[in-house]
Amino acid sequence: MSVTDEILVTPEVLSCPYDYYRRVRDEAPVHQTPMGFWLVSRYDDVMSVVRDAERFSSNFNTSFAGGTGPSPELSAILADGYPSANTLLTNDPPSHTQFRGLVNKAFTPKRVAQLEGEIRQVANALLDAFAADGRVELVGQFAVGLPLTIIADALGVDRADMADFKRWSDHAVAPLSGLLDAAQMLDCARSRVEMQRYMAARIDERRAEPRDDLLSDLVHSRFDSGERIGDGLLVPELLNVIEQLLVAGNETTTKLLAAGMLALIEHPAQMDKVRADPSLIPNLVEESLRIESPVQMLPRIARVDVEIGGVPIPAGSMVMVMYGCANRDEARFASADVFDVERANARSHLAFGQGPHFCVGAALARSEARIGFELLLERMRDIALAPVEQPTERVLSMTLRGLTALHLTFTPVTPEPVT
Ligand code: HEM
Repeated sequence: MSVTDEILVTPEVLSCPYDYYRRVRDEAPVHQTPMGFWLVSRYDDVMSVVRDAERFSSNFNTSFAGGTGPSPELSAILADGYPSANTLLTNDPPSHTQFRGLVNKAFTPKRVAQLEGEIRQVANALLDAFAADGRVELVGQFAVGLPLTIIADALGVDRADMADFKRWSDHAVAPLSGLLDAAQMLDCARSRVEMQRYMAARIDERRAEPRDDLLSDLVHSRFDSGERIGDGLLVPELLNVIEQLLVAGNETTTKLLAAGMLALIEHPAQMDKVRADPSLIPNLVEESLRIESPVQMLPRIARVDVEIGGVPIPAGSMVMVMYGCANRDEARFASADVFDVERANARSHLAFGQGPHFCVGAALARSEARIGFELLLERMRDIALAPVEQPTERVLSMTLRGLTALHLTFTPVTPEPVT
């Protein structure tokens, strides 16, 4: 069967898509799938599409929008919250440029650097809870909590409300799977409204009394026109930005931490190299992002008739840019399927996208992953998959790739007493 007739969304392909990806890149690098959308697989082609927001729109539907629009029950629930707005991920220039400029003003390298101490503290506290046990389910006990706590703190969520925040975050991501039934969609909508109301109250507090945190910066940052996003009329827009910081930032960083750890366990020589020279950790982060990209692909909509890699595509088509596939393109990365923590060009991966929608949180994610790996390796020796029936579990999705469970055993390292 030709690769163009194959269906990507089968459990076999999704559990390990890389053979399929290789055949797509080699045999039909740009083609229309039986599901209707088009695939763009090679590094250079992906790059040219995502840099070209004029011809390729990001205004694709997510979450509650759906093909036929929300049901009356769903609309009734959402009506209790704030209207949805389009700010970053699914917005296009010139409106996207305005919001992006504003978020960039709040999400500065200085703010990320300031968070380093807190990232270390939160990571150590999570480790303290299991370090003496010699076994851990790393996703649930570490990789989820680290990014979630950091962004919750930055957005002014009280630690006492973390369980709610986790539920809101899970429910914000869940509709993206496309697999929820009507009752689950209603639950997700209720969570969205709860989160909107909670965050709207935090916005009011920061408007009255700014603090030294990301939320205050967002509330008070101004468009180039001078208007503040935190001012009354723009609250739906600000809530949408906040929702995106949650959705885009948590699961992805969780998956990066788990994927990097599994790759090290599966490649003991690479683990030895990183242990011998921890200055390789930043490149370990990049190589993990390249070889197991948490965001495997995202859509664009062709605004006009276009040609990609010599293949004509009609206006209105949905085009999937395959970040995870481009990151294994041999034309860009030698021995692309090999996990190599010393790879010189690992950082040129497309796991954070490129162009106007390049990930807002890339610096934060890099910092969380670097510090996370530093502490995990410092405090755990002899890390191995636990001898349980299923040491790893994986989400099966064409968009997100990663582990939902990673059971490990290890030898605890007792920290040196501070003298
Ligand atoms: C390993 C972690 C992460 C990965 C792999 C990742 C991946 C991506 C990718 C591929 C895009 C581009 C979307 C596109 O091309 O349409 C993106 C955009 C975005 N990311 Fe991340 N991300 C990560 C962490 C974060 C974090 C920590 C945050 C915030 C706290 C964040 C917030 C965003 C936002 C708001 C956008 C939309 C930007 C725009 O449209 O201008 N991400 N991310």
